[in-house]
Amino acid sequence: MVTSIGYGIGTRLRKAVGQGALRRMDAGAGEGTCIAVAAQKGGVGKTTTAVHLAASLAEDHQLEVLLIDLDNQGHVASSLRAHLRSGAAQTVSSVLLGRDLDLMAAVVPTNIPHLSVTGADRQLSNTEAQLASRIGRELLLRRALRSARRRFDVIILDCPPNLGLLTLNGLVAAERVLVPCDLSILSLEGVDDLMTTLGNLDTMLGRAPELLGLVHTRVDRRNKRQNATIRSAVAERYAGHVLATEIGVNTDISGAQLVGKTIFAAYPNARGADDYRALADEVVSRIWPARHAAAPAA
Ligand SMILES: Nc1ncnc2c1ncn2[C@@H]1O[C@H](COP(=O)(O)OP(=O)(O)OP(=O)(O)O)[C@@H](O)[C@H]1O
Ligand SMILES: [Mg+2]
Repeated sequence: MVTSIGYGIGTRLRKAVGQGALRRMDAGAGEGTCIAVAAQKGGVGKTTTAVHLAASLAEDHQLEVLLIDLDNQGHVASSLRAHLRSGAAQTVSSVLLGRDLDLMAAVVPTNIPHLSVTGADRQLSNTEAQLASRIGRELLLRRALRSARRRFDVIILDCPPNLGLLTLNGLVAAERVLVPCDLSILSLEGVDDLMTTLGNLDTMLGRAPELLGLVHTRVDRRNKRQNATIRSAVAERYAGHVLATEIGVNTDISGAQLVGKTIFAAYPNARGADDYRALADEVVSRIWPARHAAAPAA
């Protein structure tokens, strides 16, 4: 029961999420759309989700996709190391700290058709500290993505596990935010904090991404009772925003990361591969309903 968990949710937040008050940010005609994958809690599957959503949109939906790693842990590059062809001329840090503010300089192709990424950037936490005193510090990434939006259909941002300046830059740059949430109370608290941040961005900067959805990740389908409790708490707070697709716990996902490949390349028939393909399908159906309707049935 939701009430037995003892949570409350602010009226302003309920209005913002439930009634769609958060402003929808449009990139503009003919420009790529940007999706931030963000959650305050660590280890909920942000990077795994960002990587596999990006790979499936590229491979299965033939969209030109750029995946940007905003986390200094560099897990995007390590998850995809078997797919990377070369290093980039610049890092995300050097772009954000430099004058040109063009993220295309940090982009490298992969051997996955239609998928490009930015490389690992271990300086990102230092960069975050250095940017703190800059005027317009929340808007730097949005500005840096201007040419990338003309080149790519979709830009996916893998955000770090906090609501610091890099995540804020991601949220301000994005038109939509996808929130991975494992079936734990701590994860749910983190989602509430993120929603409060979206409300604050809307109030303070006049821009916040639309909630693309919450996706339950790392679901251990054996924990039926606990799962049902958290699911109903999430559904009550975020009705209409919880994606139908759930990502189950699947050891092939971590096995694929071990060899630096997507699960689609390493274990194409694994349950985790099916889950992430279904997630990409659902994302396409939410963002581009016409494209989804036109796609041949699998
Ligand atoms: N569905 C899954 N089944 C099994 N293991 C998973 C699944 N999703 C993620 N993992 C594993 O859980 C760990 C954390 O996943 P991931 O790095 O994607 O989380 P994160 O939210 O990006 O973490 P951080 O907050 O540190 O950035 C990784 O070792 C990953 O392999
Ligand atoms: Mg991560």
